[in-house]
Amino acid sequence: MRKKIVAGNWKMNLDYNEGLGLFSEIINMVKDEVTGTQEAVVCSPFIHLHSLVQMAKGYNKVAVGAQNAHQAESGAYTGEISAKMVKSVGAAYVILGHSERRQYFGETNELLAKKTDTVLAHDLRPIFCIGETLQERESNQYFDVIKTQLVEGVFHLDEAQFAQVVLAYEPVWAIGTGVTASSAQAQEIHAFIRIEIAAKYGQEIANNTTILYGGSCNPKNAPELFAQPDIDGGLIGGASLKSRDFIDIVKVFN
Ligand code: PGA
Repeated sequence: MRKKIVAGNWKMNLDYNEGLGLFSEIINMVKDEVTGTQEAVVCSPFIHLHSLVQMAKGYNKVAVGAQNAHQAESGAYTGEISAKMVKSVGAAYVILGHSERRQYFGETNELLAKKTDTVLAHDLRPIFCIGETLQERESNQYFDVIKTQLVEGVFHLDEAQFAQVVLAYEPVWAIGTGVTASSAQAQEIHAFIRIEIAAKYGQEIANNTTILYGGSCNPKNAPELFAQPDIDGGLIGGASLKSRDFIDIVKVFN
C-alpha cells in the first residue's frame, strides 16, 4: 500500500519563533488526534529545519522537509543551500519544482532533473511538483505539459531512485487562488500520471507511488479530493499555516 502523506508548504512565511510555535501546536495535535498510518510533513524555510527536526524526535508520524536545494554538491553559490546541508540537520524531504520556483526563479525541467539527482544522492525524498497553467488547461495542452514534466524531470531515474519520489500535482491556476480543481479534474490527472508511471516503471511501482494534490486544498474540500482512488494526500500552502486547518486535513486519513 502506498503511503498517505499530507505535506505543509510554509513558503516564505513565519519568522523563527513563529515557526517553532506553529510546529509545536502541530506535533501536539498529531500526537493527540492522528490515529491512522498517514504521515504529516512540514516543509519550512531553511532557518527552521534544524529546530523542527529536534522537536519532532519521537513523533513518528511527523517529518520535516525543505522547499528547495541546490543542484551542486557545494561551491561558490552565494546564498544557496545544498542537499547535503539539508540532510545534515535531519530533514527527510525536499520540495522540488514548485511552480513558484519554476515561475519566479526560472527553474526548468532540465535543472530540476539535476536537483532530483542531487537530493536522492543524499538520501532525501523529493516531493516533485508538476502542473499546468490556466492557459495550458484552456488550450487543452495539459496532458502534454504534465507528461513532459515527468519525462524530463524524473523519468531518467532508475527504479530504485524513482521509488523514493513523491509526486505532487499542483495545477498552477489553483495555487493560492481559492479555486480548487474539482475532485474529478484532479482524479483525471492523477490517474493519467499513474498510467504514465506504469508505462515507464511497471504497475507495481506505479501502485506504490504517492501522488499528492495541491492547490487551495482546505479542510472542507480535502475529504472529497482524498477519497479519489489516485489521490494519496495533499501539498498544502495557505491552510498549513493554521495548525487546526492543517491537522484537520491530515485527519482525513484517520
Ligand atoms: P495553496 O498552495 O494551498 O495555498 O494553494 C499550495 C502550494 O503551493 O503548494
